[in-house]
Amino acid sequence: MPGLAPLDGPPLVRAPLTPEERPITGVVRPGVQLATQKFYDVVECIAEGGMGRIYRAYDASMDRYVALKLLKPDMPEYVRKRFRREAVIAANFSHPNLPRVLDVGTVPGSGLEWMTMEYLRGRDLGRVVERGRLIPLPLLVDIYSQTLEALDYIHTRKIVHCDIKPDNIFITRDSYDRRIVVIKLIDFGVSRSLETDEVPEQIAGDPLYMAPEQTVYRGEFDHRADLYALGISFFETLTGRHPFQDEINSPVEQLLRMQVSRVPDPPSRWLPPGPPRQVDALDALFAKATAKDPAQRFADARSMRRAIRALLEA
Ligand SMILES: Nc1ncnc2c1ncn2[C@@H]1O[C@H](COP(=O)(O)OP(=O)(O)O)[C@@H](O)[C@H]1O
Ligand SMILES: [Mg+2]
Repeated sequence: MPGLAPLDGPPLVRAPLTPEERPITGVVRPGVQLATQKFYDVVECIAEGGMGRIYRAYDASMDRYVALKLLKPDMPEYVRKRFRREAVIAANFSHPNLPRVLDVGTVPGSGLEWMTMEYLRGRDLGRVVERGRLIPLPLLVDIYSQTLEALDYIHTRKIVHCDIKPDNIFITRDSYDRRIVVIKLIDFGVSRSLETDEVPEQIAGDPLYMAPEQTVYRGEFDHRADLYALGISFFETLTGRHPFQDEINSPVEQLLRMQVSRVPDPPSRWLPPGPPRQVDALDALFAKATAKDPAQRFADARSMRRAIRALLEA
């Protein structure tokens, strides 16, 4: 075989392989860098955000659909860097409640940054709220307890999601048994590693869900900021209205101030009468999750998950 040393005898001394010879051997030296190219057929735009768009695309080489996230062109370098970082952080997760990230790259020529993830069938929780649909409590408990499993997994790895809200909680179904709801926590666009990242220069996240300590410029915050945002999301999906509904269109600065100082009414105010123990447990859960002082909140995702699951026994 050309290019291979014989098992016995002196190694063959010969000229470098010609391009025609290389594929025949299929043998590459460790350390060699192989260039590959991917092609995706864009099918439709699924969503448009501030930083870019998400498309459903077809990967013919793998015969599967993927979700293709494209960053808008002409974004500053720090945004491009954060985009690539999002892909790398998420690509190294392996958890049933987190989407699989497949690949990341730059489109040759245009310089557009792209990443691909497994394509999820279903809808995000934000869409459900938008349509004014209320979710029965047992399903809501299932959705949030799966979300908390994902949070427990990332928090253990010292990653804070920083953008927890219904839009980033995706409801899909098990591909074999469609009756089983499977939740995927998506969008690591502004997530932060407590171990390796500097305190961010910009306040990042959604002001409607941001924990008080996260609203402070160069402020210190940890995983409990995600639990706060999840508490706000829980209220919203439970009652169909945001805890600060009357202020939802206020300017950003006002929303941030509200997160710091305004204590919202308990969710029971907006719910039909129910079993008193369950109503009290719902109000107590919301109050604890969204305490202004992080030390008063659930200590971690696991304990919040236990409290959410206990709602069904109340
Ligand atoms: N892997 C996926 N499969 C299907 N839809 C997705 C996927 N990832 C995101 N989406 C949809 O696109 C929306 C925007 O994606 P997201 O990652 O949250 O980006 P953005 O930074 O724009 O919020 C999501 O709310 C969800 O509805
Ligand atoms: Mg999002």
